Amino acid sequence: MRIVDLPTVREVIRLTTNMYRLGWDERNGGNVSVIIDPEEYQNYLPENPIRVFHFTFDATELIGKVFVVTGTGKYFKNVEVAPESNLGIVRIGKDGHSAELLWGFEDGGAPTGEFPSHMMSHIARLRIDPKHHVVMHCHATHTLALTYVLPPDEDEITRTLWRMSTECIVVFPEGVGYLPWMLCGGNDIGLATAKKAEHYRVVLWGAHGVFGMGETIDEAFGLLETVEKSAQIYFLTQGHVRQSITNDQLKELAEAFHVNYKKII
Ligand code: 13P
Ligand code: ZN
Repeated sequence: MRIVDLPTVREVIRLTTNMYRLGWDERNGGNVSVIIDPEEYQNYLPENPIRVFHFTFDATELIGKVFVVTGTGKYFKNVEVAPESNLGIVRIGKDGHSAELLWGFEDGGAPTGEFPSHMMSHIARLRIDPKHHVVMHCHATHTLALTYVLPPDEDEITRTLWRMSTECIVVFPEGVGYLPWMLCGGNDIGLATAKKAEHYRVVLWGAHGVFGMGETIDEAFGLLETVEKSAQIYFLTQGHVRQSITNDQLKELAEAFHVNYKKII
């Protein structure tokens, strides 16, 4: 099997293609990183790195872990036609401050500029959930727009999203995290995002976009689809609302589906 045909690589190609088609990833917007388990990559990946990338944050907890990651400045619309240039497979080096390139980035590329947010969020989620694998970031249109019109308060944002569609409280009972505008692409926003990832699998970045996390690509993608759909319904109904899901109905849903929801209603 060719490395590009590893199941996780193929899934990332399909994911980024879908994200582009949904309009969530204009130009080079968005980035994805997914853990590949040893059972999948053993016998396929080389031991010696092609190149090494250094970073300043501490990724000691990820030493030896292998990720498929999108390249910085790369366009999601191009991933399908040239995965070997737009994607890379990296292994976190023994010093905990480097990523060893084992495949991809064939035109000299490097991992996403949001690598700190991705790796720090992986660390946070793995502490909570050993089955965690996926961190994805995008500029989902309605979700991004929501951060301009709702108060900068994650409980209010969560309540609004829950009310826009019946399934929401079941899909993200813990609510969503929110960070006010911060400079993207560095360690600070990475630390702040990872702190939110201790409580939430969805984190909105004010005036920028959203992060989704999960055990599988389907779970993380499904989360962001649900949030984005809900934000879209919000904008479609603004100024037209006659009735909405009540707090009692939300509680009834949470009880019926046995989810431990954030007690903000
Ligand atoms: P990269 O091209 O470095 O992945 O950055 C895109 C982006 O969305 C920044 O937040
Ligand atoms: Zn972005």
